[in-house]
Amino acid sequence: MNPNLEKSLDQRLKQELPPPLSQAIPALGRMGEKLGLRVFLVGGFVRDLLLHRQILDIDIAVEGREGAARLALGFSRQEKILVQGYPHFGTATLHLPGNYRIDLATTRKETYPAPAALPRVRPGNIHEDLYRRDFTINSLALCLHPSEFGKMLDPFGGCLDLKRRRLRVLHPRSFSDDPTRIFRALRFEQRLGFRLAPDNLLLIRKALAANAISRLSGTRLLAEIKFSLSLPETAPLLARMGRLRILAGIDPSLKFGPETARVTRSLQKSLQWFGTAAGAGNFPGFEPWVANLIALTANLPEKKLEHFVARLAPSAKVRKKIAWDRTRGKMAREMLEANPRMKKSLIFSQLHQFPPEAILFLEAQTQKEPARKALRFFLHGQAFTKPETDGQDLKRLGIPPGPLYREILARLRDLKMNGETRTKKQELEWVRKQYGPHLRNHH
Ligand code: CTP
Repeated sequence: MNPNLEKSLDQRLKQELPPPLSQAIPALGRMGEKLGLRVFLVGGFVRDLLLHRQILDIDIAVEGREGAARLALGFSRQEKILVQGYPHFGTATLHLPGNYRIDLATTRKETYPAPAALPRVRPGNIHEDLYRRDFTINSLALCLHPSEFGKMLDPFGGCLDLKRRRLRVLHPRSFSDDPTRIFRALRFEQRLGFRLAPDNLLLIRKALAANAISRLSGTRLLAEIKFSLSLPETAPLLARMGRLRILAGIDPSLKFGPETARVTRSLQKSLQWFGTAAGAGNFPGFEPWVANLIALTANLPEKKLEHFVARLAPSAKVRKKIAWDRTRGKMAREMLEANPRMKKSLIFSQLHQFPPEAILFLEAQTQKEPARKALRFFLHGQAFTKPETDGQDLKRLGIPPGPLYREILARLRDLKMNGETRTKKQELEWVRKQYGPHLRNHH
């Protein structure tokens, strides 16, 4: 790890970023000098630059009274670009040509009035701003002032931790001040391939013993769970959360045994498949994290599940999905396992009552390949086929419009799904045969 970027930052920016961004960053440093403000690249940006990872967000810290607003305003005037200011938070966003954005924040210090409460924020200098952050690897800053361009500020040993691939908080109270950092730590472990320092595991254990997670609001806890269940690495993440008793810290009835481990691993692959499956577009509201949550809570007794969901207070839509009928789901799975060559229309009628996230869970859960195939047939969207015939055609046949249309069209859909009809001609023949006598009676 070479933290000395004083000579090479400009070049690195040009390598890593599109021109509007690589030009704007040094220009912000020059504008800062003009306005008497110190300007720094901070947070995930510096971390990812040093790790040669793709840079996602550009975060800039500005030292000086109302620094972010003044710098943003000066820059937007000079460059004639759009700026959005949030004076209450001391932040501003620059919108650059090409749909790029840069977030600016005035440096600040934070104190926690109570464990797990939201912090109290006051103006502070760059050191205080770095000290309020979660991990040493996120507490690095790169100076943009023209006379010190590329100089690294590393007050807590973040560069060494990056080199050793180690996660470390800045002070012993960090996890209890902000228990969301427990979740963040485990996500960084998975995403970056890092490891928590052993004494930090101890700090997490202490925070859990003091019930840190139960002090988080439902909204904040739900947000962390959602992020954690949305990673491609969710299965190993959950396994680690189980081992470190973090799941138990969320809810004592959440268990992570070998069966949940198997299903979440299998679900990880299923989610990957589903993301690229042709039929995924048929399930527009599909949420991968909900599928993981269904797997994680699959063995919770009804009452405990209700209690857990009430604590998280998710949207009505998510709540409904999590409360899917697990007994009927199990019956459907067992039926498919026993009789996988069941007619497609029957599979459809069994499964369409469940949220797609639950069907994907069943698919990951079953160990019988033919049953898995049947579930994938449904998830592939082929089940959402429409017959060739429509209401106009039925009218032309002389069938009086009414509730019968729905029945006929549903039966035609089933025939097509089962491969029993292929063309419109065959469908119309079937209708005549089936409903012909009915028609004659009618006339
Ligand atoms: N942060 C923190 N405590 C939190 C959340 C965030 O100290 N509970 C700090 C971190 O130091 C982080 C910065 O706020 O660097 C921005 O947070 P975020 O955008 O969530 O994370 P990044 O580090 O930018 O990582 P990424 O966007 O790659 O997830």
